[in-house]
Amino acid sequence: MTAVIERAPAKINLFLHVGPLRADGYHDLASLIAFAAAGDVIEVRPSAAIALAVEGPFAHALAPFPIETNLVLRAAKLLQRETGTTGGASICLRKNLPVAAGVGGGSADAAAALRALVRLWKVDISHAALARIGFRLGADVPVCLAAHPARVTGAGENVARGPALPPLWAALVNPRVETPTGPVFRAFDAANPAPRAPRDPAPSRLSGYDAVRMLIADSCNDLEAPAVARAPAIGETLAHLRAAPGVIAARMSGSGATCFALFASQAAASRAAAAARGRGWWADAGALLA
Ligand code: C5P
Repeated sequence: MTAVIERAPAKINLFLHVGPLRADGYHDLASLIAFAAAGDVIEVRPSAAIALAVEGPFAHALAPFPIETNLVLRAAKLLQRETGTTGGASICLRKNLPVAAGVGGGSADAAAALRALVRLWKVDISHAALARIGFRLGADVPVCLAAHPARVTGAGENVARGPALPPLWAALVNPRVETPTGPVFRAFDAANPAPRAPRDPAPSRLSGYDAVRMLIADSCNDLEAPAVARAPAIGETLAHLRAAPGVIAARMSGSGATCFALFASQAAASRAAAAARGRGWWADAGALLA
């Protein structure tokens, strides 16, 4: 069998409302998530044992960490164990996206690896069962398995199809600072000792750009303030994107530091990304996945 290839698209939280801390250490969330064209790539080939190689422009960011801790390798071993698979896999992760960046990262890679290995090993497993395995690896893995616009509640384990979106192009910009998720949530807790249940304002359809604008105005990313306090460059990134010609809305994704701006054309998104690169930031522009 030849290689199986799965993409791990960047996850964008159009809004992210954070509620109380649960007994399992996770927070209750309400989020509307879309996926961008930019992403990492997973390639798997048959092999006697499970092994992982990492390449690509951000491979160096993962180099300091033992390979055994990589979520892709942990996903492969967990799927093998849970399904009683005897075969292995030679896995290659092409790391195109910045790490600790709020766009899914390790969770998106793990989800792509699960999808690829289900195909390689011809595993007979329901989507729900795969999502349960995914959630054991990380809260964002179930939505990254879906990889289409989705409403997420619970800590990430409840994933429902999101509203249809008008055609949108996103500029993703990261000011080249890493913001690990855990500490940003802890800073949120310190500033919000008694948060309310997270509000879920997502309508069933977003019929046009005004509806997108209104949804963004009527929602927020609760992690934006604690992340900006930690990394002021995020605030500069947001100011840059909110001033971009043609911008519909701009916001930080996840726990940062990547911010996104939405546009009605590829050309406008590309211009915003190019201007961001001119400031030394990482940037990408492409269509949101339907
Ligand atoms: O599941 P994952 O390892 O990606 O989560 C990283 C960290 O983010 C968790 O250890 C937790 O501190 C925080 N988190 C949270 N509530 C969620 C998701 C993540 O508090 N719903």
